[in-house]
Formats: sequence, C-alpha cells, structure tokens
Amino acid sequence: MPDLTVIVLAAGGGTRMKSKTMKVLHPIAGRSMIGHVLSAVMAVEPTRVVAVVGHQREQVGPHIEALVPGVVLAVQESQDGTGHAVRVAMEALGPGQSGTVIVTTGDTPLLEGASLRAFAEDHTGSGRAVSILTGEVRDPFGYGRVIRDPDGTVAAIVEQKDASEEQTAVREINSGILAFDAAFLEDVLPRLSNDNAKREYYLTDTVKLARAGGQKVGAFPIHDVLQTEGVNDRSEMAELAHEKNRRILARWMAEGVTVIDPATTWIDVDVVLAPDVTILPGVQLLGATVVGEDAVVGPDCTLKDVEIGEGAKVVRTHGELAVVGAGADVGPFSYLRPGARLGARGKIGAFVEVKNSDIGAGAKVPHLSYVGDAQIGEGTNIGAGAIFANYDGVTKSRSTVGRHVKTGVHNSFVAPVTIGDGATTGAGSVIRRDVPPGSLAVSSGQQRHIEGWVFRKREGTPSADAARAALDSGPGVEDTGPRGTQS
Ligand code: UD1
Ligand code: CA
Repeated sequence: MPDLTVIVLAAGGGTRMKSKTMKVLHPIAGRSMIGHVLSAVMAVEPTRVVAVVGHQREQVGPHIEALVPGVVLAVQESQDGTGHAVRVAMEALGPGQSGTVIVTTGDTPLLEGASLRAFAEDHTGSGRAVSILTGEVRDPFGYGRVIRDPDGTVAAIVEQKDASEEQTAVREINSGILAFDAAFLEDVLPRLSNDNAKREYYLTDTVKLARAGGQKVGAFPIHDVLQTEGVNDRSEMAELAHEKNRRILARWMAEGVTVIDPATTWIDVDVVLAPDVTILPGVQLLGATVVGEDAVVGPDCTLKDVEIGEGAKVVRTHGELAVVGAGADVGPFSYLRPGARLGARGKIGAFVEVKNSDIGAGAKVPHLSYVGDAQIGEGTNIGAGAIFANYDGVTKSRSTVGRHVKTGVHNSFVAPVTIGDGATTGAGSVIRRDVPPGSLAVSSGQQRHIEGWVFRKREGTPSADAARAALDSGPGVEDTGPRGTQS
C-alpha cells in the first residue's frame, strides 16, 4: 500500500474485564487480543504503525514493540476520547503527514488482514476525507450509529449516549475502524470538541466536520461483522474466543484435517497441521504445536509447543515443548515435560513422565516410569516402574542408556550412570555404577525366608490363620532355596 499509516488505539483501561491484566493483553487462541489486531495490520504492509498506549503502558508498550519492530508508541496520559488518542498519535509522527491513515482499536481479535486491506484500498481510491468501516448488527446498543441523509450519503456518526430515540433504531454501526486522508485528519483533530454526553473528544465527529467543510465521506460495509467486534468483558471474550476457535477449526478441516468433535477441540492460531491428521474429542493443541501427516491425536490431550511426527499416535497426554517422532506411540496418561524427545517408532506408555530426555528410535518406556535427564539409545526397552533418579537433592545429573538395552522391572538408575549397549539389568536393581556393554547387572540381594515369622509376630491375624491352614493341608509352596543369578 502506498503511504499507509495505521494507528492502533490501546490506551483505555478495559475496566469491565475486572482484571489486573490489561484487556488487550488477554489471550485468545494463544495470542493476545492486540496481537491478533497487529497481525491483521502487518498483513496490509503499512508504511508505519503507531500504537497509542496509556493504561499499564509498561506492559502494553513492550508487548507491542516485540510484535511490531519499529512501531511508534504514542503515550496518551489521560483517556480523553478516541479523537484525543488519534491526535496524540499524529503528534508523535510530527506535522506534514500524507497518504492514508487507518485507525483501529486493539480489542478486536477476529479482525483479518484481508478485510483491512479491502477497506484501505477502497478508501485510497475514493478521494474521501473519511471512510467508515460499517456493519449491520442485530443489537446496535453501545455503538456509534451511522446517520445517512435521505439520499443515502453518510452525514454523521452519533454515539449511543448522544443519540435520539430515532437514531438509536439505526442498525448500521461504526465498527470503530476509520480511514482518513492524512492532511484532512491533521487539520480536523484540533477542531474536535468534547461538548457531548461523555465529555470526550470523539474521533467520530470528524465525519460531520468533513461534511461541513464540503469534503467527501463514505462507508464501506463489512459483512462479517464479528471481525470488528470488540471485547469489553470476560463473557464477550469467551464468545469471541469460541468463534475464533470455530474459524481456526473450519480452516484446518478445509485443509484436510479430520476434527471429530469441533465442540471440544481447541487449536491455537499458530498451530500447524498436515493433511489427514485426525483429532479426536477433547484435544487442545496450543502454542506452536505442529502435527505431521496421518498422525492421530486424542482423545483428551493438551499439547503446547509439541512437535508430532507423521503417523504418530498420542492418546490422553499432557505435553509441553516435546518432540514425538514419526510413527511413535504416546499414552494413554503420559506426561511429556520440556525437552522430552521420542524417536521414530518409539513408545512412551501409560503413567510415564519424561523430562529433558532423548528416547531413541524404536526405544520403549511402556509402563509407570519417570525418565528425567536421560539419554536412551535406539531399540532399548525400559522395564515397568523405572525411575531415573536424576536429583540427589543438590545437583541434577544425566544418565545414559545405550542401544538395545533391556532393563528389568522396577529399576532405579542413580545418575550419573551409564549402561552400555546391549546390556541387561535384573528386576528390582538399583544401578549406581556404570554397566559395561553386554553385561547383566543385578543389585538386589539374595532372597531370604525367616520361617514362621508370621506365627511369632502376627498370631491371631487372618494372615496367620491362612498360613497355618496352608501348612496343615500338606505340602504346597515349598522353599526351593537360593536360585537365580547368585551361582
Ligand atoms: C467507539 C466509537 C463508536 C464505535 C465503537 C466500536 C468513538 C467516539 N466511538 O466507541 O462509534 O461504534 O468504538 O467499538 O470513537 N481509546 C483510547 N483512548 C481514549 C479512548 C479510547 O485509546 O481516550 C481506545 C480504547 O482503549 C478502545 C478504543 O479506543 O480500544 C475505543 O474506545 P471506547 O471508549 O471503547 O469507544 P466506544 O465507546 O466503544
Ligand atoms: Ca468499546
């Protein structure tokens, strides 16, 4: 777009949110509300962006700067109205501006770049001093109404509190997004008055001032009015979040993703899904999660910033900052913490927690285990109930398990420890020393029996009675003496 300035208004307090967090910073679909607006704005490739900040500008300002490098921040000390806010923005740019200026608010999370672009292009080609992006709404309460002359030309915008009964019946509303000829805007802003119901300088009064000066004004309708709907309170935020999600899901379904139950599926705006991904009910895909072709996710998963390879299956899993390789299997009831990386065709099974660990291709941790700060080689099988004891209360250490290792059930690996390739460990072992490749490591002591202990220490209990009955009924379970690996 030739010489296009976009002013984003974000100085208001958003008091109806009743929040210590500024309204425009509240997230919808994994991005702040103002982040959605700014991404629509950036899609139009404006020459410059000015953001008007006021309330909590120490949080809002840096957030905007991070999203729009080179943004001009204009500080509005007191919120004296949208006209005053735009004046502050224009003053921050300095006199002599030219081209088109678009003013938009920071709390419309459904706004899209294509709509903003169509509006800017329509205005730029029209020779108007002011253009209003307007919408027809069922309930216009609270909006500025677009008042037209009998011949249909736009005469004014009248705010709710200043509207006559006849005017409040008008259902064509000011979306809050306006376009101006920059020179006209510079000229008109100092001429606004606050002689109205709210004692504010209304940006919308520029319309009647343009008309009075014999300049062209006009309206550009947006049919998808939800795009310009602002959030005022938490109920409206929930409604728009729901709608945003519905749109995100519709887009992915159009791209070839199966979503079994859109009502219980939530997908953030930056998530990327390949064709033929299947999402089962109860799934939240958040942040920068990426899912590869033919993968099946769900039911009931919450995955944030997780990368899922092609054809992988992830069932009832909570994960963050983790990688699941192609064809791998995760869940049910798995917990992937940051740095969990599962290789291709690997498995992380039921009640397994993994943190900051690499589990190699084809390696399996199928049952009831904690894997922290470990490196597990390809093709290795970790027996049920393994604990990687990575923390001695002072420092964290890493453990390494080689390729094609088989560990017995209920092992502890006291880090730092290394288990060589192809080694095996016995059931119940506590591995504190490195195991050479190909060795069997056994650490549990020989099993001993203290005969008759129950009769001496637990006489009169059902256990003692059961034991006596078993012994009285003749030979049953016999003590076969030491056996196994002690030879
Ligand atoms: C405004 C419009 C109204 C339109 C509606 C659409 C005016 C006078 N009215 O009304 O015609 O239908 O938006 O939602 O423009 N802001 C500042 N500084 C201020 C005042 C406001 O930055 O001094 C910001 C607010 O943070 C908000 C936006 O401007 O993002 C709109 O302000 P708000 O007070 O909500 O205006 P509305 O009464 O909704
Ligand atoms: Ca508003």
